[in-house]
Amino acid sequence: MKLLFLGDVVGRAGRDAISTRVPELIARYGFDCVVINGENASHGRGLTEQHFEGLRAAGADVVTLGDHAFDQRDTLTYIERAPALLRPINMPPGTPGRGATLIETRSGHRVLVINALGRVFMGPADDPFRAVEAAVAACPLGEQADAIVVDFHTEATSEIQGMGHFLDGRVSLVVGTHTHIPTADARVLKGGTALMADAGMCGDYDSVIGVDPEEPLNRFLTGISGGRFTPAEGEATLCGIAIETEARTGLVLRLSPVRVGGVLAQVLPDFS
Ligand SMILES: [Fe+2]
Ligand SMILES: [Fe+2]
Repeated sequence: MKLLFLGDVVGRAGRDAISTRVPELIARYGFDCVVINGENASHGRGLTEQHFEGLRAAGADVVTLGDHAFDQRDTLTYIERAPALLRPINMPPGTPGRGATLIETRSGHRVLVINALGRVFMGPADDPFRAVEAAVAACPLGEQADAIVVDFHTEATSEIQGMGHFLDGRVSLVVGTHTHIPTADARVLKGGTALMADAGMCGDYDSVIGVDPEEPLNRFLTGISGGRFTPAEGEATLCGIAIETEARTGLVLRLSPVRVGGVLAQVLPDFS
């Protein structure tokens, strides 16, 4: 089966690019499953219910979040009636919502999606390694799940690569989100798991990680906060990774980074 994962959607530019380009990508490549990180989709901070529905309408089977999961207050309530929306699995017990979900795709495949938060250069969180491992153990690849996707939301590429090796052979894809900058390390590990340290964002790259440069630059130069961050509004680049998995094992046959639209060099899968 073919899966598409896209990194953090940032603001209107990101949402607009998702709405126009994701249906095109699904039609062109026949993706069975699309997972999108939406933690910055609403004005760069969190995800409103309306914008969550917009990502779903564009073709997202599952939407993941991160450290900005609850920046929009209504997420605390609507997440309970949105089984396709994940917040990190290793948030404190009692946090609304869920960190993993098993879906059945349009093509009848069972895909387990897990969202976790890292702990290196991040705020406090429970152990992401044991939390993800427990979710995988409850729904093993090649048995209860035809594919398993782990969105590991963290700052340090080392922590994501550690998670990749930890889960190698047990999940289909470990992909990082949060830095908004795509890394050039996408590959299949020895055990058959695809790993990419950061998917990049779906946002305007004529910016500072999706934000209009003026205020971030002001803070870098003066150390003083002079106002709010405003999402950059130029054409977004959709960034992520596409994988094709083997039907019986759920391990990865081939992969490709994806970068479409906007100012970054374009990369499209060579499989159809
Ligand atoms: Fe983000
Ligand atoms: Fe983040």
